[in-house]
This record gives sequence, C-alpha cells and structure tokens, in this order.
Amino acid sequence: MEQKKKILLIFGTRPEAIKMAPLVKALQADEHFDALVAVTAQHREMLDQVLDCFAIKPDFDLNMMQPGQTLAQITSRALNGLQQIIAEQRPDLVLVHGDTTTTLAGALAAFYEQVPVGHVEAGLRTGDKYAPYPEEMNRRLTSQLTDFHFAPTETARDNLLREGTAAERIFVTGNTVIDALLQTVDKGCDLAQYLGTETWQRINWEKKLLLLTCHRRENWGQPMQEIFAAVNSLAEEFQESVEIVCPVHKNPLVRQAARQIMGAAPNIHLIEPLDYRPFAQLMSLSSLVVTDSGGMQEEAPALGKPVLVLREVTERPEAVAAGTVRLIGNRQQSVYDGIRLLLTDDTVYSQMAHAANPYGDGKAARYIRDILQERL
Ligand code: UD1
Ligand code: UDP
Repeated sequence: MEQKKKILLIFGTRPEAIKMAPLVKALQADEHFDALVAVTAQHREMLDQVLDCFAIKPDFDLNMMQPGQTLAQITSRALNGLQQIIAEQRPDLVLVHGDTTTTLAGALAAFYEQVPVGHVEAGLRTGDKYAPYPEEMNRRLTSQLTDFHFAPTETARDNLLREGTAAERIFVTGNTVIDALLQTVDKGCDLAQYLGTETWQRINWEKKLLLLTCHRRENWGQPMQEIFAAVNSLAEEFQESVEIVCPVHKNPLVRQAARQIMGAAPNIHLIEPLDYRPFAQLMSLSSLVVTDSGGMQEEAPALGKPVLVLREVTERPEAVAAGTVRLIGNRQQSVYDGIRLLLTDDTVYSQMAHAANPYGDGKAARYIRDILQERL
C-alpha cells in the first residue's frame, strides 16, 4: 500500500471540537491516513468535555488557556506552539475548522511551514468586519491561506467564488455539526442523572422550556446586560408557564453578568456548561432556543426547534430562509419583543417549529475524507 497521508487536525474551543470530532473519527478509522490531533486548549474545561464525550485523545496539547485572555495573547501563543508542532511533524495537510483564533493561527502556522491547509466550514460571511467579532475576519483571513475549502452549503460556496476562490478548490460537503448531532442526540443520555437531583427537581418540566445561551464578544458589556434584563423580565411575566435554562459559558464576564441580572429569578436556572450529549438532549426537550451561538443555529433547526438569534446579522442565513431562525438583535426591547411573540402567538410559533436542515445529511465527515483520499 502507498504511504499513509499524515493529517494534522487542529482545534482549541468547544464548538470546533464538536464539529471536528466526526472528522477525527472518520480519518482515524481509515487506513489511508495517519490522523493526528493538536489542541491549543484555547478553552480548557469546555474542550475537555467534548474530548471525553467523543473519546478523543489529543497527540499534542498546548494547554494555553489563561483567565481573561486577549485576542493577541491567544494568537501569539497558538501561532508559536502550532508552528513548532507542524515543523516537527511535517504533515501532508493541516485541517482547521471555522472561525476562532485557533483556526486562524493554525492556518497561518501551516502556511509559514509551507504545509497545505484544509478549512472545514469554509465560506460563511456576514460582510460586516465586526460581526461576529473577531470571527468574520478570522474566516476571511483563513480563506486566503486555504488550499481545500470545505463549504457546508451552496451559499458558502458562492461567497468564496465571489471572492475569487478557484471553483475546483471548493467542495460542498454539508456541515459536520449534523454528523456530530446525529451521532449524539437520543443515544440514551440520562439527563436527570447528569443534572443531579436538585437541579432536575428545581425545573418544572411540565412548563415550556426556553433554552438560553449567550457568550459572544460583540455582546459583552451593555448588549449582554440588556439581553439578560429582557429575559429576566419575561421570566417574571411568564412565571407560571415558562422555565428558562441557561448553561453559562465559562467566561468570567459572561458568568458575572448572568448571575447579577438573572440570578434571583426562581424560573431561571443558571447551570454549568453541559457535556454535549446532555446538552443535545436538553435542546430536544426545549420549546424554544434563544442564543448567540453559531453552532446552535445549525443544530436546533435540525431538531425542529425555533431559534431566536441574539445578533444583528448572521453568517448562517440558510435556516433564516427556511423559517426556523429569526434574528432578534441584542437590545433589550427587541429581545423582549422577539421572545414574547413566540411565547404568546401559537401561529407564529408553529410556523417556526418545523424541522429544517439546510446543513447536510450527517455524512459531511465522510465526504471530506473521500475528497482527501482522492486529492492528496
Ligand atoms: C471563543 C471563540 C469564539 C467561539 C467561542 C465558543 C475566539 C476569539 N473566540 O470565544 O469564536 O464562538 O470560543 O465558545 O476564538 N474559559 C474558561 N474555561 C473554558 C473556556 C473559557 O475558563 O473552558 C474562560 C477563560 O477565562 C478564557 C475566557 O473564558 O480566558 C474566554 O475564552 P476565549 O476562548 O478567549 O473566548 P470565548 O468567548 O470563549
Ligand atoms: N454546547 C454544549 N454544552 C453547552 C452549551 C453548548 O455542548 O452547555 C454545544 C452546542 O450544542 C454547540 C456548541 O456547544 O454544538 C456551541 O458552542 P458555543 O456556543 O460555545 O460556540 P459557537 O457555536 O458560538 O461558536
């Protein structure tokens, strides 16, 4: 047999890990590849939760997370650490994912070592340099460094073509998040046991469940305070009929704001970030998802859950077009109005609550593997 191709998969945060996990598995199970994993650990606990869930043991771990890290700190630490690993390992290809600072640093480090780059989830754009921040720019810059663009949708492909990317370098594969979700959801997770008796009993599961997450940099400060204030007043108004569960991101800025503004409401449950399996379960039990997350805009529609997005623009327009996602911005009044409408208008709710999955058939990792087998 010809020599195995060495692929180095690089990631560092929770969402990248979830979306790269199916690809790690697909490449490691294939005899054509020697697939190695390098994590920057830009996130620590939240990354480790995903590594445990998918039983992935990184070959390299830069363990670089610092409390309150700045963008420049993450970039320089990741760039230095990853360049050394790439220089030593000399892979045939580096694979990065999405739009984090680890993504950009990984692609740049590979370029400095003149190693080809594959970009998974390529081509998403808002057209606004500062939204999402810094992710829009991370994605654009990574595209410039990329040799194989794995676009999740035709829209993403068109974005890349418009910027002059060669058509033969773009492959529409679907999003690996659907692979991860389908491999995870409803696979016998005991949410009650995972949450613990006290939390489980505190939540009245007979009521409507609203799942809330919020962490984005462009929402830090005033917008996040306004979002949480809107949720807090809705919790009071709908105390008899709605329970709100919010797994709080580990970022201290987010935790402080969440606790301060929503900590006293009896029907708002601020809990620790959940492992992916129970989180997927919780999403499937909820009536409504309110979030600024990128990945959840892709997952929740696939589960038939309406999603209200706490942003002014999104780089994921497909589910908006399909009618299951709406943008409600990040100001108190628009967030309040957007959520209230879905809690009170059954017609609007049922128009949004249908399964829509513009993001793939759950085989994206296999398509990427096959393309790499053919092209490398
Ligand atoms: C990062 C990504 C963002 C992605 C998000 C997913 C960048 C610039 N940002 O944002 O694109 O959407 O992850 O969640 O790449 N922390 C912990 N433990 C953890 C994780 C974070 O304590 O497991 C705390 C640390 O104090 C850390 C801070 O959160 O300094 C911020 O982490 P960072 O990765 O810089 O930013 P995120 O907002 O998580
Ligand atoms: N998620 C999780 N546990 C949680 C919250 C989210 O496993 O407590 C998953 C979620 O299903 C999605 C991903 O984490 O796949 C989203 O991560 P995050 O919101 O941190 O990043 P983003 O999607 O905004 O890049």
